[in-house]
Amino acid sequence: MNQYKIAFIPGDGVGPEVAAEAMMTLEACAKKYSFAIDCTTFDWNCDYYLKRGRMMPEDALDTLKQFDAVFLGSVGDPSKVPDHISLIPLLTIRQGFEQYVNLRPIKMLKGVYSPISTATPETVDFVVVRENAEGEYSQLGGMHFPDAPHGFATQMAVFTRKGCERVIRYAFELARKRKAEGHMGKVTNCTKSNALGYSMVFWDRIFNEVAAQYPDIETDSILVDAITMFFCTRPQRFDVVVASNLFGDIITDLGSVLQGGMGFAAGANLNPERDFPSMFEPIHGSALDLAGQGKVNPIASIESARLMLEHFGEQEAADNILKAVQKVLEEGRVRTPDMRGSSTTHELGEAIRAAL
Ligand code: IPM
Ligand code: MG
Repeated sequence: MNQYKIAFIPGDGVGPEVAAEAMMTLEACAKKYSFAIDCTTFDWNCDYYLKRGRMMPEDALDTLKQFDAVFLGSVGDPSKVPDHISLIPLLTIRQGFEQYVNLRPIKMLKGVYSPISTATPETVDFVVVRENAEGEYSQLGGMHFPDAPHGFATQMAVFTRKGCERVIRYAFELARKRKAEGHMGKVTNCTKSNALGYSMVFWDRIFNEVAAQYPDIETDSILVDAITMFFCTRPQRFDVVVASNLFGDIITDLGSVLQGGMGFAAGANLNPERDFPSMFEPIHGSALDLAGQGKVNPIASIESARLMLEHFGEQEAADNILKAVQKVLEEGRVRTPDMRGSSTTHELGEAIRAAL
């Protein structure tokens, strides 16, 4: 029997409520599909910071390295710790474990409403592959005389050949796999090389080099600003989108609206080589105003758990989670407030597990 060791970091705000639903769903799958989940919880969050002056222990990565995967609820509580400090662990894990692919499926399920009128289950079914280890998030730069009239700040973006190549190649491989499953077989390059004449021109050059090795895959290059427009006007144009770290961050929030809101948006931070554990998390934040009320939609977290099972190769269990989520949404009886219903986080989680 396969056993998976999972490091569970519930985090702040609504993180613990939604992460608990993901974990219960993993356990339900484990029973049904005969694998075992061995879960260890870590209380690394903003309260931990207030007690110890850091968000996680110094040797956190060594600890996490022992696990098969990490599940993260959500982190951040600016009333306790400034965001640029509380979010350090997230970026440290992503970068330290070379989770260079941030996989964000944008799929509208049946029975879901989006305020974007072009969004239907037929038109919205694509994946954003976000670069996750370098680019605009490289944390290089500085503030110089910040309080002085002549003060200034610099923030450097780093684009390495290796870093661009591996994530772009991942996107093409994914497009090939999706093509075999009946999708378009197309990679859209999210760029901004008209204004960023070094980093994005370099990125485009590598995109074109990799594309040449995939003659069976259609390509398209669209400037990031235009992508936001086409997400809204013609979502059916997209199959796999590859984007740098910051651009991928921005367009996937818009993508979440196409799929019905943040309550549906799942994410996987993947180290495809499996040298390190990968990390799974809903892409929404800690939503402090909603915390502790059982109001938030757990589907983003449950779907992130599904991505974890896919990563483990438990395909049947993963497929069944999606089917169960789809079934509950189509029935429409159990709906959280974001879907104009009055069910709780736990009730929706339970309904999905009953449908498994
Ligand atoms: C996300 C989040 C993070 C990011 C923040 C919290 C640092 O917005 O996962 O999309 O920008 O990557
Ligand atoms: Mg984001």
